[in-house]
Amino acid sequence: MNEINRTTTFKSVEGKVVIVTGASRGIGKAVAEIYGANGMKVVCAARSVEQGQAVADAICENGGEAVFVQTDCSDTKQMKKLVDTAVSHYGRLDGMVNNAGIGQGGTPLHEYGMEDYENIFDLNSKGVFAGMKYAAEAILRSHSQGGFLINVASIAGILPQRGQALYTATKFGVVGMTKAAALDYAPYNITVNAICPGYTKTSIFGDAPEQAMAFFAKDCPSGRMGEPKECAYLALFLASDMARYITGAAIPVDGALSAGSKNVSHWKHPEILE
Ligand SMILES: NC(=O)c1ccc[n+]([C@@H]2O[C@H](COP(=O)([O-])OP(=O)(O)OC[C@H]3O[C@@H](n4cnc5c(N)ncnc54)[C@H](O)[C@@H]3O)[C@@H](O)[C@H]2O)c1
Repeated sequence: MNEINRTTTFKSVEGKVVIVTGASRGIGKAVAEIYGANGMKVVCAARSVEQGQAVADAICENGGEAVFVQTDCSDTKQMKKLVDTAVSHYGRLDGMVNNAGIGQGGTPLHEYGMEDYENIFDLNSKGVFAGMKYAAEAILRSHSQGGFLINVASIAGILPQRGQALYTATKFGVVGMTKAAALDYAPYNITVNAICPGYTKTSIFGDAPEQAMAFFAKDCPSGRMGEPKECAYLALFLASDMARYITGAAIPVDGALSAGSKNVSHWKHPEILE
């Protein structure tokens, strides 16, 4: 087999130990499942024991390896305990996906309270910092040959979103931290990247009315919302040895939502004008 054939598979992820936060549903669940299905040892972290344990159990039932560790990712002590537990259970750590995050939006900046600031920054920013810090230490101690940190940011970390001042601030921060850390760890062969989902069908939209969901699909140049697994495919690639030279990147998975402005109409093609 030549080198291209040997390396263009996801076999390189087999046996890697990875932590996925917010693994109980949505994008985190899809990432945990795809990692488990590809032979990674997955430490699933979430607050809900019932939902988080169910994800770990399902991975094991399908022939994979996974454990669940109940974690509130906005609590830095629990984040340290999560990483320590992963290392004591599997003996090493190769990667971490900081995915747990909350959305907050729909109002102009002045309508947010100071408590909104604390709530969202505690999880989306401080929790991600803690995850990166403790995981980086553990990956370095493990002498991983294929170490990686992945942060699930947002297209709001690339392009500010109206009505989402605080969410946008946290996600710009995550993208910034990702890039700075990529510079820190490049000499140690640990890649650090951000996945930036666009509108993705998960419970993050809570009880948003059907009208809002229809708007999201229409607002996206691709005409539809994304599926959680479409982010998970990228997470698998970034965990593999095919992506060892990709680091410091903030990669949209968004059907071209953040690619540019849709304001200029297709004036030469009136048949496709919306
Ligand atoms: N769905 C989208 O359209 C979209 C778009 C851009 C970015 N994102 C980002 O993707 C990530 C995942 O979101 P999702 O869409 O899957 O949402 P979701 O609400 O379906 O899932 C969020 C996950 O995070 C967990 N979580 C929330 N608070 C937590 C805490 N304090 N401690 C531990 N876990 C906690 C939840 O239990 C759940 O497992 C988030 O960081 C979000 O900002 C989502």
